[in-house]
Amino acid sequence: MEFLSDDIHEYIAKHTSQAPEYLNELERETWLKVLMPRMLSGHVQGHILKMFSTMMRPQYILEVGTYTGYASHFLVEGLASGGEFHAVEINEELETIIKKYWAHHPKFEQMHLHIGPAGELLPSLKKPWDLIFLDADKEGLQAYYEVLIPMMPSGAIMLIDNILWSGKVIGGPNSNDKDTKAIVALNEHVAKDPRVEQVILSVRDGIMMVRKL
Ligand SMILES: C[S@@+](CC[C@H](N)C(=O)[O-])C[C@H]1O[C@@H](n2cnc3c(N)ncnc32)[C@H](O)[C@@H]1O
Repeated sequence: MEFLSDDIHEYIAKHTSQAPEYLNELERETWLKVLMPRMLSGHVQGHILKMFSTMMRPQYILEVGTYTGYASHFLVEGLASGGEFHAVEINEELETIIKKYWAHHPKFEQMHLHIGPAGELLPSLKKPWDLIFLDADKEGLQAYYEVLIPMMPSGAIMLIDNILWSGKVIGGPNSNDKDTKAIVALNEHVAKDPRVEQVILSVRDGIMMVRKL
């Protein structure tokens, strides 16, 4: 389900700050060489992530599900000096392309990639995460949320992507699959969680913004 017309999407894309040329090249290389290129965030969602990061000036940033590393470039923008950016990605074949483009970023030395399943890696990545972007498999969402919320200091922000799942979260045909069920369960879980306050942003496929109380 599309929430906005193609013309409005085009208008938004045109009137949002553009990505640097090297990220357009990453986008082109992703479309040419990598399966499921639609998973790449794009410059509009990228700039939303950059706005959060530059407003917050976080010390510790985590991205779960990095794909070709496009969103990392925006998330890391506001990283404090001496801070750390960590990303978790299960697909080891993506490591070369992620690092090839990360190397363009002035904060490259502060960027750390962990290859492996988030379910295994997250419990040992113990940091006081100020900003988290959760964008990996949907079935693992609730487990990742539960591991990470206790690590977050008060005021920290978690952004969870694809939380509207093309509108399937409110039912209708083709909404009985395990990914839809996992997202619906997470949305209900967060709504009842007294440790946080949250708002769903109807950007792209829906972003849940969660603030730790
Ligand atoms: C939607 S893409 C991420 C897009 C990226 N954040 C961006 O905005 O450009 C989801 C990524 O999560 C990865 N992934 C899926 N299951 C995972 C898991 N269990 N642990 C870590 N990464 C996983 C996939 O390989 C894929 O690269």
